[in-house]
Amino acid sequence: MTKSEKIAQQILGRIHNHDRDQGGVLTETTGAQGSAKTAVNLAFTDYTLKNFPKEKIFWSECYDAPLQIFKLKNIDKIKFFIQKDKKIVFRNRDDHLRHIDLHPIEFTTFSDLYEKAKPGHVNVVFFGDRLIWMEFIKYLRSIGEWVHIYIEEFSEIAPMFPHADLWHKVKEFAKTLKDVRKCMMNMHYNSQQVSDIHYECRNKVMIKIFLPGAFKDSHCRVTQLAIDNLERNYKKGNQAYLVQGGEFGKTRFTDIYTPRSGYHYESHVQE
Ligand SMILES: Nc1ncnc2c1ncn2[C@@H]1O[C@H](COP(=O)(O)OP(=O)(O)OP(=O)(O)O)[C@@H](O)[C@H]1O
Ligand SMILES: [Mg+2]
Repeated sequence: MTKSEKIAQQILGRIHNHDRDQGGVLTETTGAQGSAKTAVNLAFTDYTLKNFPKEKIFWSECYDAPLQIFKLKNIDKIKFFIQKDKKIVFRNRDDHLRHIDLHPIEFTTFSDLYEKAKPGHVNVVFFGDRLIWMEFIKYLRSIGEWVHIYIEEFSEIAPMFPHADLWHKVKEFAKTLKDVRKCMMNMHYNSQQVSDIHYECRNKVMIKIFLPGAFKDSHCRVTQLAIDNLERNYKKGNQAYLVQGGEFGKTRFTDIYTPRSGYHYESHVQE
């Protein structure tokens, strides 16, 4: 194992850490379209399911897009949750967007959702508006148990250029993210480019994962040339750099997550 691979393993160890003294972790994964960003979230989710089956996992999907969670290998472990009265439906893209029943569980408040969420499962939650995740994550901060949060396309929640009202919310949210380190919360998000995300939120990220096609970040030790040389390999898995502060290492995400039955379903909020 090279020194770089060793450091990558150490950083991966920190990602799954359960040490109350060290606290939680906030990771960011960026890379080109199709560079396996979702696969990284799924690999971490699988690890959590296997190693911490008594803990709760929350997963945030985009609306009007294929449900990425259906790439998970063990689809028996998925539970869908929808907020009551929010007119959230699921539609089948292979059948003219006809409604499909994914047997979602309805919840009212955050505490109702937390109570109903099943440990050892991926609880895929729809509030009808992705911005609500900022409030839900704040709520989870004070739960007092280890929780795991996976967010797809984080720029929909904390964009680089939020409009007036959202700007205040995003600034408040950055304070919540600062606390991830101090609570028992492991949070992972992905986005295509670092510049898509509000800088105050990005500043709180503890571990950065760069996949092929990622843009380098100004405060990062890894050079753009190094990122450009990461190998894409749909059989062996894509290479990535893992960066934690001034340290970085190279690894390969060897688990391949491909679309499965259900991938062509989408969530939609009715007018
Ligand atoms: N570990 C992996 N390494 C390389 N390729 C992978 C890996 N896992 C899955 N793939 C392949 O790459 C495709 C895209 O993966 P994935 O959806 O994770 O990428 P993404 O970066 O999230 O894409 P998008 O930009 O569309 O969100 C998958 O459908 C699969 O064929
Ligand atoms: Mg993706």
